[in-house]
Amino acid sequence: MPAGAQSPAGFEAVGSVAVRTFAAHQSRPQTVRTAHQSMDGHHVNAMAGDGSGAPHNHFADYDELPEGHFYDPDAEYEPDPEYAATLAPDAARQRRERVGPTGRPLPYFPIPGPLTDHGPAKIIAMCNQKGGVGKTTSTINLGAALAEYGRRVLLVDFDPQGALSVGLGVNPMELDLTVYNLLMERGMAADEVLLKTAVPNMDLLPSNIDLSAAEVQLVSEVARESTLQRALKPLMADYDYIVIDCQPSLGLLTVNALTAAHKVIVPLECEFFALRGVALLTETIEKVQERLNPELELDGILATMYDSRTVHSREVLARVVEAFDDHVYHTVIGRTVRFPETTVAGEPITTYASNSVGAAAYRQLAREVLARCHAE
Ligand SMILES: Nc1ncnc2c1ncn2[C@@H]1O[C@H](COP(=O)(O)OP(=O)(O)O)[C@@H](O)[C@H]1O
Ligand SMILES: [Mg+2]
Repeated sequence: MPAGAQSPAGFEAVGSVAVRTFAAHQSRPQTVRTAHQSMDGHHVNAMAGDGSGAPHNHFADYDELPEGHFYDPDAEYEPDPEYAATLAPDAARQRRERVGPTGRPLPYFPIPGPLTDHGPAKIIAMCNQKGGVGKTTSTINLGAALAEYGRRVLLVDFDPQGALSVGLGVNPMELDLTVYNLLMERGMAADEVLLKTAVPNMDLLPSNIDLSAAEVQLVSEVARESTLQRALKPLMADYDYIVIDCQPSLGLLTVNALTAAHKVIVPLECEFFALRGVALLTETIEKVQERLNPELELDGILATMYDSRTVHSREVLARVVEAFDDHVYHTVIGRTVRFPETTVAGEPITTYASNSVGAAAYRQLAREVLARCHAE
């Protein structure tokens, strides 16, 4: 491929290999602050109240920490008091019993240490055949949080809608090469398709509507379920985590993602029909386990769009915990308008609103995911 042949607006070709960057972000001041840096050394401790003895009202400023306070997961108490307090059904009880939003005691998830070597990658499929449950949001923000902790991360947009690509500031319509080409064209090098994101350590395999053709074309392929697995193999040495954003169906593309993956994360929206269809999903996961990928396991169920202020959200979460027990992550993602805003901004919440509770939640999730991987 000649240099520069792949240069849609917003990308630049460097040398003979198209190293594409997100020009849209380059003029933006870098606002990434890692979770363990506190700008002024001021540790936020929500549970300490304001010194008057009256507990701080954790729900009043739900989206943003108070002016001059920076999220610091290492501050006093365990763990992440600001985050945990915001999501606790009852802040007083949480203080007494140290229970998290799922009603179970909150373990401490340590800040991951730096890595000297990278790879081989653990592959995570973000999967739920229901749309609008937070798959794409969780892929972007878990990925960005892992990258902040120094992990090398590759995000794979495996939904022809291209929402993951859009959420990272890419216009999918302008792409000539996408994950579709990597799947369908033998000899296509991943480097030609890869995009660097504005987040250091995080790359993207973008997709667009072309991918919908793959679903049909793959049917006649040999070993059609393991096409993505083969395509990702050469990339595994370069990354610590590869996160695949699945499309909202249990079709061949999703089966490919499950076949390639070591772990599945299932985001569930905390609303009435959350559990509907989950049996079908777990059945699909089990079938893939039996027939195609014995390594596959359910890492966790992630409760999203949780609002501790509503009885309904709390009830749904309690039922999810009842059904899935230890499979439910202790980390719960609260509902905040900040997430839709980040899609418009085309960047993760960890950079868009670094001090927000939403960013803290995904950092906490990253720590929980890393802790689970280490426990193995
Ligand atoms: N925790 C949250 N709070 C509020 N809105 C959210 C949250 N997570 C996701 N959203 C919004 O909900 C919509 C669907 O989320 P998305 O991640 O695209 O779901 P999926 O990929 O499962 O279809 C998007 O507009 C997104 O911005
Ligand atoms: Mg999506």
